Amino acid sequence: MKLAIYPGSFDPVTFGHIEIISRAAKMFDKLIVLVSVNPLKPNSFTREERLEMLSETVQVEGFDNVEVDSYDGLLIDYFKQRDADVIVRGLRAVSDFEYEFQMAQANRKLCPKAETVFLASKSEYTYFSSSVVKQIGMFGGDIKDFVPEYILGRIANRLKK
Ligand code: COA
Repeated sequence: MKLAIYPGSFDPVTFGHIEIISRAAKMFDKLIVLVSVNPLKPNSFTREERLEMLSETVQVEGFDNVEVDSYDGLLIDYFKQRDADVIVRGLRAVSDFEYEFQMAQANRKLCPKAETVFLASKSEYTYFSSSVVKQIGMFGGDIKDFVPEYILGRIANRLKK
């Protein structure tokens, strides 16, 4: 069984992430979407809120082989604990590559078994980011093209606070 982990901040989850989840779920027997900590980035949504939005996404979209989890430590420690095979990351543009390449190499150094698979984002999502959604939402803009309708209200209300 091939187990893959898709880590990220998901602060909040967007259509861009969902597209990667959907494609990765078809490639592996099981996919864990992991709410992880990037210590260099402050989050706007609590871990519980991010987990809740991801769990709802998985349920509504019918991703049967996808689990949602969170971990506060090193991704590679979680990877080893779960005896995973692959780390999945999305690439939106060439500008993502250097950072992603560095993380993939560092993770492989810490665990030689850890392969990172990069999925190229669909072109309509290449300019998406959680920060874009947050900025639009904070100023009362319409975020319906960025996040699914079932979590839109929650995100919009939270960002207006
Ligand atoms: N569609 C839309 N947006 C996308 C996207 C996609 N396919 N892929 C990435 N993004 C956006 C995210 O929304 C995020 O936007 P933001 O910066 O505005 O919040 C941005 O791109 C970065 O993506 P994210 O997946 O959140 O990466 P990150 O750089 O914040 O975090 C972790 C990377 C959490 C996976 C990494 O820090 C980690 O592994 N942490 C655990 C600790 C660890 O092991 N560190 C050592 C790593 S070598």
